[in-house]
Amino acid sequence: MRIICVNNYDEMSEKAANIVASQIILKPDSVLGLATGSTPIGMYNHIVKAYESGKISFQNVTTFNLDEYLNLDKNNAQSYYFYMRKNLYDKVDISIENINIPDGITDNIQEECIRYEKEIRNKGGIDIQVLGIGRNGHIGFNEPDIKFEALTHMVNLDDQTIKDNSRFFDTVKEVPTKAISMGIKTIMRARKIVLLASGKEKANCIYEAIYGKITPNLPASVLQLHPDVVFVLDKEAASKLDSEEIDKEYL
Ligand code: PGA
Repeated sequence: MRIICVNNYDEMSEKAANIVASQIILKPDSVLGLATGSTPIGMYNHIVKAYESGKISFQNVTTFNLDEYLNLDKNNAQSYYFYMRKNLYDKVDISIENINIPDGITDNIQEECIRYEKEIRNKGGIDIQVLGIGRNGHIGFNEPDIKFEALTHMVNLDDQTIKDNSRFFDTVKEVPTKAISMGIKTIMRARKIVLLASGKEKANCIYEAIYGKITPNLPASVLQLHPDVVFVLDKEAASKLDSEEIDKEYL
């Protein structure tokens, strides 16, 4: 595990974008695992800038998103499909057939989960998976008490997650209570993982994910077992960590 600490949100975003851009430069037909939420928005802005300046192209890139709410239409502004178009896909030269997001309005959830896993496998697996982290330690929508051996599956969102995500909706009642998410096993199969976190409200879950017991109660703790994972944190998210073990890129 490598821990990189930078000064602030923008530096975290730029660092993460550089890691993803390097992956695409080294392997133009990379398979990217992508995340939504507020944390990666700055990273997507920097990735778009790298595309606009001609440093990277998405022509041969394939993407798989971590998750999607159930029962939200693609055109709903709160769907993750909509988020991805707005923040990345409409701004770069990716082919629509290379974009993969679980279908949240499927009428056969189980089949959709199996199809998604198969698709990842058919593309040769994920080269680099980008993750955020929930305050309860979730990754993707793998909420506390998840089974580590789960592949893509339907999840019931935790009360904390519904509350946290209600800031994007008019009322908490509008927040979907279910989603389709890659499972922990799907995430752990990625060759590389980069997890981003910023802000003091993430300091506790980051501490537990890195130093805590490996337990389904704190899903991100499983990353301690991954052979190639980097945490990119701003000072506040890293504030509870032992400073000896951190690469401080702001010094
Ligand atoms: P956030 O969500 O980036 O909006 O804080 C992270 C997550 O829930 O994974």
